[in-house]
Amino acid sequence: MTQAPVTAGTPYGTIPPASPLPQRRPVSLPRLAQMREAGEKITMVTAYDATFAAVADAAGVECILVGDSLGMVCQGLHSTVGVSLQDMCYHTASVARGLHRVQGTAWLIADMPYGSYAESREQAMRSACELMQAGAHMVKLEGGGWTAPTVQFLVERGVPVCAHLGLTPQTVHALGGYRVQGKSDEGAATLRRHALELQDAGASMLVLEMVPAQLSRELTAELPHCHTIGIGAGSGTAGQVLVLHDMLGVNLGKMARFVHNFMADADSVKGAFEAYVHAVKNGSFPDDSKHAW
Ligand code: KIV
Repeated sequence: MTQAPVTAGTPYGTIPPASPLPQRRPVSLPRLAQMREAGEKITMVTAYDATFAAVADAAGVECILVGDSLGMVCQGLHSTVGVSLQDMCYHTASVARGLHRVQGTAWLIADMPYGSYAESREQAMRSACELMQAGAHMVKLEGGGWTAPTVQFLVERGVPVCAHLGLTPQTVHALGGYRVQGKSDEGAATLRRHALELQDAGASMLVLEMVPAQLSRELTAELPHCHTIGIGAGSGTAGQVLVLHDMLGVNLGKMARFVHNFMADADSVKGAFEAYVHAVKNGSFPDDSKHAW
């Protein structure tokens, strides 16, 4: 009887160099629009390195966000304000390599960090170019009002843009802390105006963070060309996003109300991503009675 050769496996992680995975259809803007039209929820998680990105992709997550939340979860900062463009490019390139190695299909979004787009539209374009060259398919920037002309400038030059309204962590000091936005009539009206301006400027996605569920449901109906992605914004958005460490329960503090630890009932990280995808698609996450304001 011949003995099977002993294989050592791949050291230091197990992303296969040339993927034997079956070909999957890459996620693109038209595909996201089709999903929205068909009433299928869009799933997004943050990732900051090759392995987690590859595993999330293999579990069926459509969008990977290289969030500047990496300042907190990877770099130990108190806010996202200290994250540089160089940091963002480094992590975006790592994630992009992870996706390429598994013939990944996810749509890759990179955050424009604090100070990389406020000076001028030209500065924003230069920063966006660096992120796109690092492997991003889309860039995300925070804020409304003054950002609309910048979004239009980028979109006209071929850079897909995701906007971000509600709790915008880069301006946490100006907002007076991590608190729900758009609760007052005036706050809701401003948020609505900003969202419509960003859609008109060409933003094709909009993260709504810590916004009342009713307001984000209404905004979703009013923004047919801009897919709303909620985090602490209730179940009425076109999709959901969670920060990787939060959804895997890698957290020593008290978790925010809108978070769910998908690792609690899973036996692997891939299983946790799959449970998240399943729960978002079947509407069981977020549960507005537990996770929304
Ligand atoms: O930086 C980030 O991770 C984000 C998400 C919270 C949406 O912007």
